[in-house]
Amino acid sequence: MGKLIKKEDAYYPDKEFKKRAWVKDNSIYKKANRDPIKFWDELARELHWFRKWKKTFKHEPPYFHWFTGGKINISYNCLERNLEKRRNKVALIWEPEPKNERERVFTYYDLYRQVNKFANSLKEMGVNKGDVVGIYMPMIPESLIAMLACARIGAIHTVVFSAFSPKALNIRLNQTNAKILITADGYYRKGKEMNLKANADKGSKGTKVKKVVTVRRTNSKIKKKKGDCYWDEVIEKQKDYCKPAEMNAEDTLFILFTSGSTGKPKGVMHACGGYTVQAYWTAKLIFDLCDNDIFWSTADIGWITGHTYSCYGPLLNGTTFVLYEGVPDYPETDRWCHIIEKYGVTTFYTAPTAIRMFEKEVGKVKENLKTLQLIASVGEPINEEAWKWFFKQVGKGNCPVLDTWWQTETGGILITSLPGVGPFKPTFAGMPFPGVQTDILDNKGKKVKANQKGNLVILPPFSPGMLRGVYKNPKKYKKTYFGEYGDKVYFTEDIAYKDKKGLVRIVGRADDVIKVAGHRISTGEMENIIDSNNKVAECAVVGIPHKIKGETPVVFVVLNPKKKATEKDILKLITEGIGKIAKPQKIFFVKDLPKTRSGKIMRRILRKFFTGEDLGDLSTLANPQTVDEIKKKIKK
Ligand code: WTA
Repeated sequence: MGKLIKKEDAYYPDKEFKKRAWVKDNSIYKKANRDPIKFWDELARELHWFRKWKKTFKHEPPYFHWFTGGKINISYNCLERNLEKRRNKVALIWEPEPKNERERVFTYYDLYRQVNKFANSLKEMGVNKGDVVGIYMPMIPESLIAMLACARIGAIHTVVFSAFSPKALNIRLNQTNAKILITADGYYRKGKEMNLKANADKGSKGTKVKKVVTVRRTNSKIKKKKGDCYWDEVIEKQKDYCKPAEMNAEDTLFILFTSGSTGKPKGVMHACGGYTVQAYWTAKLIFDLCDNDIFWSTADIGWITGHTYSCYGPLLNGTTFVLYEGVPDYPETDRWCHIIEKYGVTTFYTAPTAIRMFEKEVGKVKENLKTLQLIASVGEPINEEAWKWFFKQVGKGNCPVLDTWWQTETGGILITSLPGVGPFKPTFAGMPFPGVQTDILDNKGKKVKANQKGNLVILPPFSPGMLRGVYKNPKKYKKTYFGEYGDKVYFTEDIAYKDKKGLVRIVGRADDVIKVAGHRISTGEMENIIDSNNKVAECAVVGIPHKIKGETPVVFVVLNPKKKATEKDILKLITEGIGKIAKPQKIFFVKDLPKTRSGKIMRRILRKFFTGEDLGDLSTLANPQTVDEIKKKIKK
């Protein structure tokens, strides 16, 4: 293993590191920048295509297409493509949360058989190419098998995070008209048995779901309704081969809902061809996946990181990877260290919120974690202290820390330093991935200078794995992503700046999205849910800084005259509408909210009460007296 060399405020890989790395120097950036389309075209060839594409990139602003005319199947690339060389290699190691249970291990051939069988089960249930299948599942192997089986027959999966409430599930199922829902009886979290099937039943009420397939995980009693079946029963009698559907590169592979500024979650659509190329190549070059690596991404499959790096990315690369069911600090605070040691994890991918939690709970890491070679972070800005702790205590000063920036919409990582190139500079994500063009613009669309903050944008040809639309909502697609600078510039809704060397640092969001423990939550969506209650006249939700979670929501509620409500009532609205992950830190009942003369709620001021920042000029407010009232309430 190599060493890291410190130069000024950053670290660089030494010769030994470069030896192992797929990318050893800067030349790849130069090559890719010269002709990004040609660059991606060459990369795409390494995968298996039933038919080669005719056109590499087609731009019909605000839409764009990659590899049109090509035919591909991601499950074929994850499975068959690996069978020749890695039939008996371990693909997936599943670690259950209860320590008295054994892990489950699947070779590439095991997975291949399971996926084929379940693909045949889906077919038997009447699922056709282009149908949407709902997946509401915990972190168990069957969840990945279900995703791959959908992909195999060309059905579009839409995974709903298992901690989302039945109502949140209901909204997503209704938007996509899913006819089948795959779930589990339950799962373990912090030692508790969670009943998932009951939520699945509640959430599928009033939708088009005709059949619920349940995996037995906890073996708890479930209510079986008409049309319901157990996973093991449907899969048992199936043949172990199902011909993979030859998908057009631009066919939809999956829909994943995510939060934006406004009320309803958006169904982000990803395409079969481009997503496969991006998942494969970013996983390979960024995590430097080699044949003897053990990769562990802690991300739940309910989020994009779970799709790309807890499932598709490692499988496309023929990697052995770990999937863990529960929380990383249960039953001991250093359970995650034990998992790294038990399997000899070489590459560990997690989120700043987890890193800060480990730091607080464990402090000094006594395990030597000697197998680790690369450690990486995603989901929210990583503060310098957490970066340094991660680097010293987990990486022992020998592992590059990759700070990877991307979004549900981008499908794969778009900004990070590459392990064989560096630099690894605390709080800086690094350079855009080769072949990706980004910029930082002011509100007028002018490039900002080094060290000046602005809006992070992505320029044509974008990247193959980026979204192809918002499900059934082309207007939203255009307005959200191509509304700021015209239809040829994708606005990430992130604020960032570059240092003199061009390394990008992400500052935070420009919109009303907050990151709570790495989970993307819309304060607008929370407001909608609270406002929909007839006791509430109006409300405002803001994200305030939190030591471990990064951000946490705080709610201000103005009640209707003569109506009464308690904190508990508001909390119930939120946990029922979204889930516990959106639980506010505090709920304040106030008489009025600070507003501009045109009636706009000044959320910025509300936030500043908690950050200690100067409140600024209040003279433009229509109701400056509310500021004192709220201040007093918060102090109390
Ligand atoms: C934020 C997660 C700073 C950012 C993959 C982005 C980050 C949003 C980083 C997308 C990072 C993600 N540094 N901020 N390394 N990675 N973000 O869709 O605001 O859940 O726009 O995708 O997370 O969140 P999403």
